[in-house]
Amino acid sequence: TPPGRIRNFCIIAHIDHGKSTLADRMLQETGVVEQRLMRAQYLDRMDIERERGITIKSQAVRMPWAVGDRTLILNMIDTPGHVDFTYEVSRSLAACEGAVLLVDAAQGIEAQTLANLYLAMENDLTIIPVLNKIDLPSAQPEKYAEELAGLIGCDPAEVLRVSGKTGEGVPELLDHIVDLVPPPVGDAGAPARAMIFDSVYDTYRGVVTYVRVIDGSLSPRERISMMSTRATHELLEIGAISPDPVPSKGLGVGEVGYLITGVKDVRQSKVGDTVTGASRPAQKALGGYKEPRPMVFSGLYPMDGSDYPILRDALDKLKLNDAALVYEPETSAALGFGFRVGFLGMLHLEIVRERLEREFDLDLISTLPNVEYDVVLEDGTHVDVTNPSEFPGGKVGSITEPVVRATVLAPSEFIGAIMELCQSRRGVLRGMDYLSPERVEMRYTLPLAEIVFDFFDALKSKTRGYASLDYEPDGDQEADLVKVDILLQGDTVDAFSAIVHRDKAYAYGVQMATKLKELIPRQQFEVPVQAAIGSRVIARETIRAIRKDVLAKCYGGDISRKRKLLEKQKEGKKRMKMVGSVEVPQEAFIAALSQD
Ligand code: GTP
Repeated sequence: TPPGRIRNFCIIAHIDHGKSTLADRMLQETGVVEQRLMRAQYLDRMDIERERGITIKSQAVRMPWAVGDRTLILNMIDTPGHVDFTYEVSRSLAACEGAVLLVDAAQGIEAQTLANLYLAMENDLTIIPVLNKIDLPSAQPEKYAEELAGLIGCDPAEVLRVSGKTGEGVPELLDHIVDLVPPPVGDAGAPARAMIFDSVYDTYRGVVTYVRVIDGSLSPRERISMMSTRATHELLEIGAISPDPVPSKGLGVGEVGYLITGVKDVRQSKVGDTVTGASRPAQKALGGYKEPRPMVFSGLYPMDGSDYPILRDALDKLKLNDAALVYEPETSAALGFGFRVGFLGMLHLEIVRERLEREFDLDLISTLPNVEYDVVLEDGTHVDVTNPSEFPGGKVGSITEPVVRATVLAPSEFIGAIMELCQSRRGVLRGMDYLSPERVEMRYTLPLAEIVFDFFDALKSKTRGYASLDYEPDGDQEADLVKVDILLQGDTVDAFSAIVHRDKAYAYGVQMATKLKELIPRQQFEVPVQAAIGSRVIARETIRAIRKDVLAKCYGGDISRKRKLLEKQKEGKKRMKMVGSVEVPQEAFIAALSQD
């Protein structure tokens, strides 16, 4: 297809503003999916299947669309919706020339609307503002058209109005995409350069790589090279998805599609990397490539120590499909053998944990997540700390921690509550703008460690659910951090050590000591529970001694009841872990490590 007849676009929206529904409707309007086969959330369905490794996810769908006597090719490129995946979003956007900015006509602009809009603007995309769900009785198209127009600087009359549900306005939107989104430009005669914007692992076909060709062309059977690693592969298949993969004779300038080389590991096909031809390689890679960098780390341990090999195999399998997942073996005196795992963010952590538990039938304990710290010792050496146990014991010169640039959108009545929350999380206000008299956008710099865990929940509860949040990494800054250890009868329980701000060390110590006092059953001797920074104890609780006698409850001589109780006690013992001479039930670890 000549570039003049191609339009590459994506849909960007806040969660639940109707992106999937609109995408489905476009597939139907363009005849890519027949009416009778149409099911709700056609693209999402692929998502679930991909999880199970059955089929290829439609990251980019090719749709023919006739305008007058010309048939154009519209490539719709999907973007991940969560802040953990900002880099992936930016690469998907970089594969497009235009973006449909979709806003719920009953909700107005939200934080992810803005975050995605800014990313689209950074990539110089043409923005098409669209209000969705105009069929809703609660829709206020006039009001929100004005808000949206004010944001991007256009006339409210230029804001399209559609309903993904009824299909109203969708053909007009497709016409607009043809009119407004510029066709791709590239040098057809130059050495091939194609950008990878996604890669997924498929059980049957190996890694499927999604690319957008910038210059030159790629054809089947040629050898291709990945510019970041210089690794070369034979191109076994190349084509477009519409809505099933259709092999073709190649992809040229501006075209979007998939390629298969037979590699088995997504790490060999990295998002953001440039694919070139091995026989006539490009000199310069496309800009913007970044190695995936884990932001949050947590220890993962099997509840049942004998499941360790299963956990290791499961992680090896997941890694094939997840270039951002990193892990290394770790041992904990309290929890046994496990892994230190790095994640892009909390959602990523939850997805991985859930998949491990569901697909590999594992029961896991995870330690308190932490971010990565750069500790500089007084002699100038740097120590990267992704686990509190690596925190150097000697004199520390300075510590830096990652920070994010966060955007909060909320009704203006909540400004006070939001400021209070952000201040309590060591946030610094960077700016504030009114989108309308009653809606405000607040920009903060916040330590990543303060927002990854429960910040969003706290924000929601302080704003009755009205605030929305988005954030992206924004470098590192120095902070006054300390490591707090928790000791049982003088022995450090490694799984409970945490790196926290000095002002919060006492609160963390007291909270853990109190929790543990409640969770650990009395022993036959007194057990002090202490929180300490280095050798300085900052909080203390005591578990008083008892003489436990399981038979005390048995009056009379019912021997079978006695035996039952003894057996029960024995069973309980199996699930006990020893910390020094203190018996700690496994449940106590789980409860103490769960965040409430
Ligand atoms: P994620 O994919 O989860 O980010 O959400 P999304 O933005 O894709 O939203 P989705 O398409 O899943 O729609 C969210 C909800 O809004 C669903 O319950 C849809 O049925 C509903 N919805 C989507 N479009 C319309 C519309 O035009 N009108 C009405 N009334 N409801 C809609």
